[in-house]
Amino acid sequence: MDFGLTGKRALVLGASRGLGHAVAATLNAEGAHVTIAGRNPVALEKAAGAMAHPDKVCVLRIELGQPQSVADAIEELGERGSTAIDILVNNGGGPPPGSVLDVEAEQWLHHFSAMVASTFTLTNHLVPAMRARRWGRIVNIVSSGVVQPIPNLGISNALRASIVGYAKTLAAEVAGDGVTVNSVLPGRIETDRLKQLDAAAAERTGQDAETVMKTSHAQIPAGRYGRPQEFASMVAFLASDLAGYVTGSSIRVDGGMIRSV
Ligand SMILES: NC(=O)c1ccc[n+]([C@@H]2O[C@H](COP(=O)([O-])OP(=O)(O)OC[C@H]3O[C@@H](n4cnc5c(N)ncnc54)[C@H](OP(=O)(O)O)[C@@H]3O)[C@@H](O)[C@H]2O)c1
Repeated sequence: MDFGLTGKRALVLGASRGLGHAVAATLNAEGAHVTIAGRNPVALEKAAGAMAHPDKVCVLRIELGQPQSVADAIEELGERGSTAIDILVNNGGGPPPGSVLDVEAEQWLHHFSAMVASTFTLTNHLVPAMRARRWGRIVNIVSSGVVQPIPNLGISNALRASIVGYAKTLAAEVAGDGVTVNSVLPGRIETDRLKQLDAAAAERTGQDAETVMKTSHAQIPAGRYGRPQEFASMVAFLASDLAGYVTGSSIRVDGGMIRSV
């Protein structure tokens, strides 16, 4: 199947490892030129070297929690010709676990800035050129928590919901110009982030990590965690030419974990 990605230009945030890296590698393997972004330049260079077509990879340093860094990255993209970006994959680090009751006002603002405002700012910057070219793809990596809030992940549950609201609104505004906007909801996919959450759960409950993982597997109809590639394939499809009529959707990649229809 030809995804029609040859020659397309993608910007993938949070792409030095985990889900973002798997997405960037898949787009690159399908022929897209990818700019991979994150905080750590060494990790980004290493990630770039692991792609199928390293000659079609650029790195971009960005700290999503710092508005100045986001502004600098936008300026750098402009110098490189940011109007050429066809595909934007919004992604970044997850917030710490905990109850919503324990979050102070300043922490809400900090995480809003890192997870939400940066997404809105970058998307608003890149969409006008996509509309002008009458082709564009925005894919937001969020979480199953936007449908079924996850216990003890209060910040994530509360803030990611606003990305889905933004995406649905934007999708209707730009659908007539060939730009699609979708959100993908990972359930539990094997990455560093999942290991950290399982380790935190083990510490909180006094169980060992193996027991936490087995309990978690038992809650997933597929009986296991997902692989990053299984997640990336869905994002690559949404980013492709084939998915031109899919927009404003929230799509689960969760092995059946969310039980509601
Ligand atoms: N894996 C899952 O099962 C799952 C489930 C639900 C939701 N999610 C969410 O999906 C997203 C990706 O998950 P993942 O498992 O791939 O996470 P991950 O393994 O922690 O990777 C996060 C990526 O984002 C980058 N990053 C982190 N903080 C950043 C910041 N402030 N500015 C710029 N880049 C930043 C990291 O690179 P640097 O550290 O080098 O910057 C890394 O490339 C996370 O938000 C996670 O919470 C994941």
